[in-house]
Amino acid sequence: MGKIRIIQGDITALEVDAIVNAANSSLLGGGGVDGAIHRAAGNEFQRECREINKARSSQPGGACPPGEAVITGAGKLRCKKVIHTVGPVWRGGAAGEDQILASCYRNCLTLAVQEDLAVIAFPNISTGVYGYPKNLAAGIAWKTVSEHMEKAERPREVIFVCYDRENYELYRELAGD
Ligand code: APR
Repeated sequence: MGKIRIIQGDITALEVDAIVNAANSSLLGGGGVDGAIHRAAGNEFQRECREINKARSSQPGGACPPGEAVITGAGKLRCKKVIHTVGPVWRGGAAGEDQILASCYRNCLTLAVQEDLAVIAFPNISTGVYGYPKNLAAGIAWKTVSEHMEKAERPREVIFVCYDRENYELYRELAGD
């Protein structure tokens, strides 16, 4: 059973195998954690994202459709890899948002297994610009990751990186802390 940790802080500072980026389908950066990661990772990283965008932007859903995940290098970041995933935009809960959000976590974990990554860190996907209610998103994240960690050897550890106090308290509650 792998370990799950909950911290409050800036995901771009973490020295782990991979950090997860809450991206948009273009993979070309944006605001929030996406903007922070692109700024901190620098030109080489941004160039790699542009190449993926060029190669895949004509596919339905763009370079990275909602719920899917793409792995890149990490440029100047302290981590080794960045796993980009695109969460659902909250539209009230009847448009399959829960399934798409669960797919984000599942697909990131699948890439971690394929790339033999030991420690990966997630931000609170979709709970910022995309407006997903934090309590609902935390429940989906916790359930999806816990189910994976119960049965898989990799990753050895998952860190939920909460940027705000509300998310931090929600995850601590789910952990029974
Ligand atoms: N470290 C960790 N978490 C962060 C950081 C950071 N440096 N900066 C922001 N966050 C948190 C936010 O507080 C929020 O809890 O990440 C969570 C996700 O919020 P957003 O970054 O707004 O991502 P999301 O809601 O998934 O919306 C994605 O926003 O930035 C654009 O290009 C991105 O279009 C995409 C959309």
